[in-house]
Formats: sequence, structure tokens, C-alpha cells
Amino acid sequence: MANIIDGKLISTQIKDELKEKVANLKKEGKQITLAVIQVGNDPASTVYVGNKKKACEYIGINSLAYELPEDITEESLLKTIEELNNDDKVNGILVQLPLPKHIDEDKVIKTIAPEKDVDGFHPSSVGALLIGQEGFLPCTPAGIIQLIKRSGISIEGKECVVIGRSNIVGKPMGVLLLRENGTVTITHSKTKNLKKVCKRADILVVAIGKPKMIDASYVKDGAVVIDVGIHRNADNKLCGDVDFDSVEKVASYITPVPGGVGPMTIAMLMQNCVNSVR
Ligand code: GUN
Repeated sequence: MANIIDGKLISTQIKDELKEKVANLKKEGKQITLAVIQVGNDPASTVYVGNKKKACEYIGINSLAYELPEDITEESLLKTIEELNNDDKVNGILVQLPLPKHIDEDKVIKTIAPEKDVDGFHPSSVGALLIGQEGFLPCTPAGIIQLIKRSGISIEGKECVVIGRSNIVGKPMGVLLLRENGTVTITHSKTKNLKKVCKRADILVVAIGKPKMIDASYVKDGAVVIDVGIHRNADNKLCGDVDFDSVEKVASYITPVPGGVGPMTIAMLMQNCVNSVR
């Protein structure tokens, strides 16, 4: 039976550390403000944005909520971002994704000033990550590194396999594991013999977007399995990309859904917000 990595507990530890830092910054007269922009009212986005605002409140960060209509023009959204770029009181800007189809997401991300890019999605943040320079780290992969390290698991020299190559998770996850001296393979929908490649992994990060696709037959005995997926099944219950009941029998460590990676994404967003003033 695998040890369960408690993302809720670890994220609370990180948020408590940040809360103390924010209190100290306040004593120096420094306030932190995060602008959170949501376009339209996709229910999942509303939940994520709500959780981000709650985390800000917990830590002592001011949050400014921008709830913009679904049919807002791209021009008008870009203008709002530019105003926030120029507002000295705003330290971080987050535009919740996905955006409606008539808006070019890449253009929106590029418009956010890199020094306020707390999501770490701006091409200059991504470039800095790739060449090992300082910059905002994307929250989900950075949170996964914290989950692994704070569980006392070493990454150095380990076979790390990432399933999924998205800009938000898969690609930056590979780079961060490499930075920790892991031996990294990034797999995707065209990978041949996916099962065989996954079976090599000491650390398997699954961000495939398919409910319960990864069962014990993909997992080496004693592997660490991190599940980035989140889905709602027919009974309205949450599940991940990993078949938890099957994999927990062979893994040494596993993250649950919910309560694994999800809370860490928000904790790392808060960390980026705190870093944005320092
Ligand atoms: N949508 C899904 N994940 C994220 C995230 O980490 N940041 C933003 N802005 N939108 C998302």
C-alpha cells in the first residue's frame, strides 16, 4: 500500500510560512495585491478563482476581482491588463484560463507585464525557466516539486516520466525535474509503447486529461505517482487521470484527487505573489 501524499497538509504548511512573510512585509509598509481576471462564468473557473481569492485572504494578500462578460472584446481585455500593468499598487496579474474562443490566449498572456506574471505563463518567464534564470515558476509543476521534496523523496538521478506535454504542466514539469537532476522523459499521445516507458519511471507525473487511464499495469513497483488530472465522474465524484485503487497497491507514494496536486497550485501562486514584491 502506497503512502498518500497529503497536498492539503503540505499546501497549508506553505501558506502558513507565506502568511508570516506577508505579515513581516506589512510591518515594512509593503502590501501585496493580486488582480484576478475571469472572463465569462464557466463554473469550474468560478470555483478555481474563488479558491484563489480565499487563499489571498488567508495569507493577507489583497485581491482585486475583475469579472468580465463572456462577450468582452479582446481589445477591451488587453486594455484592462495594460491598466493593471501600469498600476503600481498591483503586484500580480492572473487571467483565468481558458478564455472564450474569440480571444487569443497567447496575446493575452504576452500582454501581462513579465514582472507581474504570477502564473509564470509569459514567454519570458518560460524562457527564464528553460535556461535556469530567475523568474516566476508555473504553479502546478512548481507545486509538484514541493510535494515530492517535502515528502522526503529525492529526485536526483531518478528516472522521471511525465505524461502530457502542455505548456502549463507537461513541458515545464520536465524542465523542473531536469533542474533537480532527474533523468526526464516527456511522453504524449504519439509516444510508442507508453506503458513500457511509464514502467521505467521511479517518478511518474500524469497529466493526460483522461479519467483513471493509468492503472497498475503502467507503474513500476515502488514508484512515486503524481496525478495532475481532475474529472467529475457519472456519480458527481472527483477522480484523477490515475486509477487510484489500482495504483496505490504498487506505488510507494501517490497523490489523491482531490487533495493532492490541486491545493499546491494555489499555494505556489501565493508564493509567486509574495516573490513579486521582493
Ligand atoms: N486554468 C487552469 N489552470 C490554470 C492556472 O494555473 N492559471 C490560470 N490562469 N488559469 C488556469
